[in-house]
Amino acid sequence: MVKKYVFGTPFETEAVVAQIAVEQQTTHIDCGSILVEESGFTFCYEMDKQDVIYGLGEANRGINKRGYLYVSNCTDDPHHTEERTSLYGAHNFIILSGKEHIGLFFDYPSEMTFDIGYTHQDRLVVRCAHADLYLYMITGESAYDVARQFRKIIGKSYIPPKFAFGFGQSRWGYKTAQDVETVVKNYKDNQIPIDMVYMDIDYMQDYKDFTVNPDRFPDFPDFVQKMKQQNIHLIPIIDAGVKIEKDYDIYEEGVEKGYFCKREDGSEFVASVWPGWTHFPDVLNPEARAWFGSKYEILINQGIDGFWNDMNEPAIFFSREGIEDLNQEIMSYVEKWDTEQIFENADAIPYEVRGKIERLQNNPEDYKRFYHCVDGKKIRHDRVHNLYGFNMTRAASEAFEKIAPDQKFLLFSRSSYIGMHRYGGIWTGDNQSWWSHILLNLKMMPSLHMCGFLYTGADLGGFGANTTRDLLLRWLAFGVFTPLMRNHTALGTREQECYQFEGIEDFRHVIGVRYRLLPYLYSEFLRAANEDDLYFRPLGFDYPDDRRAVETEDQLMLGNEVMLVPVYTQNVSGRVVYLPEEMKFVKFLPDGNIYEETLEKGTHYIDVALNEVPLFIRKDKCIPIVDVAQSVEEIDMQTVSYIGYSQATYQFTE
Ligand code: GLC
Repeated sequence: MVKKYVFGTPFETEAVVAQIAVEQQTTHIDCGSILVEESGFTFCYEMDKQDVIYGLGEANRGINKRGYLYVSNCTDDPHHTEERTSLYGAHNFIILSGKEHIGLFFDYPSEMTFDIGYTHQDRLVVRCAHADLYLYMITGESAYDVARQFRKIIGKSYIPPKFAFGFGQSRWGYKTAQDVETVVKNYKDNQIPIDMVYMDIDYMQDYKDFTVNPDRFPDFPDFVQKMKQQNIHLIPIIDAGVKIEKDYDIYEEGVEKGYFCKREDGSEFVASVWPGWTHFPDVLNPEARAWFGSKYEILINQGIDGFWNDMNEPAIFFSREGIEDLNQEIMSYVEKWDTEQIFENADAIPYEVRGKIERLQNNPEDYKRFYHCVDGKKIRHDRVHNLYGFNMTRAASEAFEKIAPDQKFLLFSRSSYIGMHRYGGIWTGDNQSWWSHILLNLKMMPSLHMCGFLYTGADLGGFGANTTRDLLLRWLAFGVFTPLMRNHTALGTREQECYQFEGIEDFRHVIGVRYRLLPYLYSEFLRAANEDDLYFRPLGFDYPDDRRAVETEDQLMLGNEVMLVPVYTQNVSGRVVYLPEEMKFVKFLPDGNIYEETLEKGTHYIDVALNEVPLFIRKDKCIPIVDVAQSVEEIDMQTVSYIGYSQATYQFTE
């Protein structure tokens, strides 16, 4: 059952699509207490010792969110350390699960805090500074039931084209067509399956959206076609900021039509991002959104069929006003250099000055300096901050509908708000090549699926810092199962393509397993999307009465058949697993054989070598597998066979 409450005058975020009548009573709801004051809105709930709090999508820490503070405030921060309270997305949905099971969605697009036992261990306090929001309260039989009811009201999740379930290689630093060709050639020569190569910002002319540098990519449409002939899809990045440059048509058009975000005085707001000084398209204004979206056609006409939208919190390195707020000392450094130089020369700047420069980045004051125009009304950005990435991605998706209504496009974003899950997927941003980030990746996945973001994945191998062979292999063995399977890394890090390491056959094997399982994974993804279900679930959703299962956060359920048990520590030959019921332990061995063993309910230690991919098949279930293929297109469904419990059958979702 879903109830909808309204407080004040909320902004229509369009997160929820179901028509739900508003409850009359707004001073009291059937769970917790609500306080509406001049200083904001507060929801308070006393948690039982046993209550588990699920949700919050892209957030730090565990699957059970108890014991920390989370702030919904889309932030470009590459330091995903344990104490961080905000990441790139804002997903204000939680499930209180204990004696009762209650889902709460706070539909509020500005900063909001979830104190889940941080200040007082057993108290949940949700707060925001303005009491203008919709609150949806869902009651159900179980946490799983509540999550599915929520998924129904927010509308069907985005489904990407099938090739997007293949493996993708990315690196910030591929600059030319030749760089891309080298990647493709090395993957193909080593028979490592691959379907996508990502094009980071260097493909553009001076980081200008929707341009392609003609010296680096002469005859781009021809290049795109040549890649397609090899079953390689090129996936360019699109950044939120539009470079300010005379004669750059998108900049000039945007200014002329008034489609960029403006300061209070009506002038265009100026922020520095990768291209230097930029304007932000006002994607909250439907006209400007349609205009920005229509620009994707420039690349679609050159054969492109997938995009990743980036820097759309929107990330701001600094603004003119921010700089003006600082003293002359900093001015003398900043004025001499362009953006790139500032980052390159950071070490040469005195420590105290560097600190000041760093604080210029994503400065909350900047988000108060510009406005959106919605229904003829001016809205200050900070009041709707968390909707920017959502609407940039919506711009692209709505344009695709017009440009090529029969075609499916790959589309995912860095920043997001619930509702965006109908338009695209997300990747989890700039993680690091740390073992702890495999675990963070794993824990985030089911929470994202509760919030509708099914097409998701992390930068496998880690974005920041140098990866190692074993870290990459273990992470890929988990990435085999994430809908988005992409190896991506930052400029200046160690080369991270699979062929850069010794023992390439191990990488060939692990990625090959993705392709052997791909028809199954795709089918389960489609089923989850079509039925408003979760593809990844915490064990507690399937075994709610088994406390040990509820507390197991380093294993995941996938679809109706599988339990995942990734290895996420270095220098180990296996790991401990907990089986809530009898299951079949399966390992894809490097020689192509499949090991199967029935294990009883309980605790086991399983051996998993670096070049093996483990999973469990649930009792009385089976899963389909096929032969390895070099690309999704080349998968031969004639080779299908089944592993698991021999009496079981599997029904594909198409
Ligand atoms: C941002 C993105 C990252 C990308 C980089 C350069 O940090 O999160 O994926 O490589 O910008 O475009």
